[in-house]
Amino acid sequence: MTVHIGAKPGQIAPTVLMPGDPYRARWAAETFLDNPVLVNEVRGMLGFTGTWRGNPVTIHGSGMGMPSMSIYANELISEYGAKTLIRIGSAGAMQESIKLRDVVLAQTATSLSTPSRGFFREINFAPCADFGLLAAAHKAAADKGVTTHVGNIYSSDVFYDDRKDLNKIMTDHGVLCVEMEAAELYNLCARHGVRGLAVLTISDHLITQEALPSADRERSFGDMVEIALGAAFP
Ligand code: ADE
Repeated sequence: MTVHIGAKPGQIAPTVLMPGDPYRARWAAETFLDNPVLVNEVRGMLGFTGTWRGNPVTIHGSGMGMPSMSIYANELISEYGAKTLIRIGSAGAMQESIKLRDVVLAQTATSLSTPSRGFFREINFAPCADFGLLAAAHKAAADKGVTTHVGNIYSSDVFYDDRKDLNKIMTDHGVLCVEMEAAELYNLCARHGVRGLAVLTISDHLITQEALPSADRERSFGDMVEIALGAAFP
């Protein structure tokens, strides 16, 4: 057990999928895993371990924002030996060419700050995805016929951001979408020598102001879970 995870040693798989929402962790585990077992519920942050095509997999919530992601990713890596961590979550599109329900594979993640900012001091570290995972996710999505965009994303510290000029700078530099966790996941994976990837579904659009109705979110979320599993076990 760690401060925030109640799983016993051996109950967390080397491959962990991390949705922000703990209830999505439950839904994904019950929908896609064989024999899912609840392994954590400390503070309501649910984690389940089961198998997918015979491979052990844990699906564990990250919570919202990089400080929360940092807590769970650190404990999963350092205390439970997680080797592959894939964020599965939603994002807001920052390019007109990107549509609702499209999938974005985050090759790298720009940020204003991350919990690792102090660690890196004057270094502007470039957090990036594991290329093997990225390539496998791209292939898994193509095999499913899901449109993907691969590139730079923006991991923001605030959901309600009135600094519209910052979003425009991101858009003008080709940043694909905004979310709130990937950059710190990539920082931690680099620091600990493990594999990280963020697979994101576009749930809202910062330019057109469209948003997915909640019923549609679940179906799009399912595609993303299958792409993440296909990337982890190609
Ligand atoms: N996640 C999904 N949509 C988002 C947005 N517009 N900003 C930040 N995180 C998001």
